Amino acid sequence: MPAASTPDPAPEDAYTADPFLPARGGLDALREAAADCRGCPLHGPATQTVFGEGKKDARVMLVGEQPGDQEDRQGRPFVGPAGRLLHKALEEAGLDPGDAYVTNAVKHFKFAQAAPGKRRIHRAPSLREMTACAPWLARELALVEPELIVVLGATAGKALLGSSFRVGEVRGTVIERDIHGHPERLLPTVHPSSVLRADDRDAAYQGLLADLKTAARALG
Ligand code: URA
Ligand code: SF4
Repeated sequence: MPAASTPDPAPEDAYTADPFLPARGGLDALREAAADCRGCPLHGPATQTVFGEGKKDARVMLVGEQPGDQEDRQGRPFVGPAGRLLHKALEEAGLDPGDAYVTNAVKHFKFAQAAPGKRRIHRAPSLREMTACAPWLARELALVEPELIVVLGATAGKALLGSSFRVGEVRGTVIERDIHGHPERLLPTVHPSSVLRADDRDAAYQGLLADLKTAARALG
């Protein structure tokens, strides 16, 4: 048995962040409440909740998958290797990262670890964990009201657009969808960590960059 891995889900289907959401308040109240979320088992082995960050009136919201090792330690989204690549691409595309709101579909790091002190290896969140965590993202969307949502990879896409979402079919195009009763404009693209894993990193980076330039144009 791994020493400190995220436990497998219990058979009951009762995971939800709902009871932990504040009845009212803005982003600061939401972030504070999320720090105490126990809506699914992922909070157990993780260090802390990694909530979204950025301007409350940001025009663009970027949605990733879940925090990684560095994000879990620092308590901030996209501060590790994938985040550095994302920030570089945003600046090159003409999108000011300081003008964006950056968050994740799932707010706790899910990992496997062979033994204490060993490297923590990222594990993809399950559909149930994504569903449990979705109320946080829904409230972030309602409060920030971005003009455009940049969907970084399949997990973010499934969280926002449903489990049948595939990045390949719509990447790099602005699509319009109803999300929680609001019409939203979304631009799906690949996850920055897939660029880091690609055989041809340069080509993968150019693909992400081209999509982010489309996002910049869509914002005008
Ligand atoms: N990958 C993500 O999806 N989000 C982060 O915050 C960091 C890495
Ligand atoms: Fe709550 Fe989301 Fe963390 Fe699960 S992953 S405990 S739902 S904040």
